[in-house]
Amino acid sequence: MERLRAAGCVFADEEARLIAEAAGADAGTREALLRRRLAGEPLEVVVGWAEFAGLRIPVAPGVFVPRRRTELLARLAIARTPRAGTVVDLCCGSGAIAAAVAHARPDVTVIAADIDPRAVALASGTLAAYGATAVVSDMDGALGALHGRVDLVASCPPYVPSARIALMPREAREHEPRIALDGGLDGADLQRESLAAAARLLGTGGVAVVETSEDLASLTLQMAEAAGLVAVVERDADLGATAVVASR
Ligand SMILES: C[S@@+](CC[C@H](N)C(=O)[O-])C[C@H]1O[C@@H](n2cnc3c(N)ncnc32)[C@H](O)[C@@H]1O
Repeated sequence: MERLRAAGCVFADEEARLIAEAAGADAGTREALLRRRLAGEPLEVVVGWAEFAGLRIPVAPGVFVPRRRTELLARLAIARTPRAGTVVDLCCGSGAIAAAVAHARPDVTVIAADIDPRAVALASGTLAAYGATAVVSDMDGALGALHGRVDLVASCPPYVPSARIALMPREAREHEPRIALDGGLDGADLQRESLAAAARLLGTGGVAVVETSEDLASLTLQMAEAAGLVAVVERDADLGATAVVASR
């Protein structure tokens, strides 16, 4: 714990406890995990899981660590999906949103998709336990069979403007893939693609929920409307979360 505190870890006590739990009884494993953390790897990657919507979601090196703010999307998806409906988690990363929805709504069919095969391999293993699946897909490229048949699309695409990546915390810059962070010049490129994909996937009355930032919210709203959807902004101050909810 002293080494974590000296390295500047704000929650050194808690981190030491979680590292000890992940290592089990083996002192060599504990030392190896501690060294990885001291070298700057995200705690979640070191211990192998992230807490999300009350679940322990497996995480792995090279895959985006799910953030607590994204629980807003899971909550909206759980509340807005009709009975026995179909949900697509676009840009699923570890599959955290899909897992939370499938866990809370066993009546619903959940399909997750991501362009990164490493993320899909991780998500597939996690989602199997919840009766959900994951596929490699550039947005909805591999989901043509679902066009017009989906009740809810949840999406947390990358939305950091390219020039701001250099200002992100070191943990993200050095340990998360650029493809999971970089939203292009204004940050909105992948949101635009997600909303266009959602407009193709959703059936009549379907809903898309897309994570955004306060800076981008009005642009995300405009893009949803340009994709033919009727959109509002939802916020959760406790989570520091902003989302656009767009209906067909
Ligand atoms: C910010 S991460 C979010 C991951 C996950 N939804 C979460 O909340 O933890 C964005 C994800 O989008 C994926 N991605 C980037 N471009 C994509 C594209 N064109 N099609 C599908 N997925 C993409 C990345 O691989 C990454 O896993």
